[in-house]
Amino acid sequence: MSEKKVAVVTGGSRGIGKEVALKFAREGFDVVIIDLFEDEEAKATVEELKAAGSKSKIYLGDISKEDQVDGVVEAILKDYGTIHVLVNNAGITKDNLLLRQTASDITAVITVNLIGTMLMTKACLRTFMRQKYGRIVNISSVVGIIGNKGQANYSASKAGVIGFTKTVAQEYGKKNITCNAVAPGFIETRMTEAMTDEAKAAIAGNISLGRYGTPKEVANLVYFLASDQSEYITGEVIRIDGGLA
Ligand code: NAI
Repeated sequence: MSEKKVAVVTGGSRGIGKEVALKFAREGFDVVIIDLFEDEEAKATVEELKAAGSKSKIYLGDISKEDQVDGVVEAILKDYGTIHVLVNNAGITKDNLLLRQTASDITAVITVNLIGTMLMTKACLRTFMRQKYGRIVNISSVVGIIGNKGQANYSASKAGVIGFTKTVAQEYGKKNITCNAVAPGFIETRMTEAMTDEAKAAIAGNISLGRYGTPKEVANLVYFLASDQSEYITGEVIRIDGGLA
């Protein structure tokens, strides 16, 4: 059981999710990670979280599979007692021009990014309603707002997350549950590492601030949306893109 507030971060073992998890740990939360694998990187992240004072554990599960989601959330509730904050961060890309995207590329991206977010939220809602408190922060993307060549599946999934966010905000607001989305631009992580230097330079030229964002910068915004400083904000989508859009 946890004496502190409990935050769950999907895909929290690396990248943006890791920095989000660390931010909550430093702010006094017990932070739980849900991820696909417990590799060396994931183990190191859990150690860092513990060093920051959090009672942390990684639960293995695929957020796009309902039975796994329900099983993991049940296990977290058993171990920690409750959940206060859910950060739907896990996501994947399978980029290609639409003509070259296979049905399985399309299904995979929408299933993880959109349906996974919906299943995780659904699994936590009863707890949030019972305690009349819940903070949900969904990681969308700026390309869910403005689109992007080569990312038809991904941009559709992230636009879907925005519609979902606004609906959850409306359905559960009266239970003191807020649901907001952040829409990052180009953030330095493994997801963007794979791009060519040329492609990176082309994007950087369109960013008003002239540089890529860092996972820490996204983490600060996510934390704000789950903190007491933002109690009257719900159904909102906040871009964090250095002016890209
Ligand atoms: P990443 O690839 O570094 O990390 C993603 C994490 O999610 C990994 O730990 C991975 O194992 C986990 N994951 C993937 N599929 C999963 C599943 N089915 N079940 C459970 N865990 C799963 O990615 P990054 O860059 O940290 O992205 C995090 C989120 O931010 C994603 O939703 C991404 O779409 C979004 N985002 C990233 C941007 C960027 O520039 N890096 C820009 C805008 C949005």
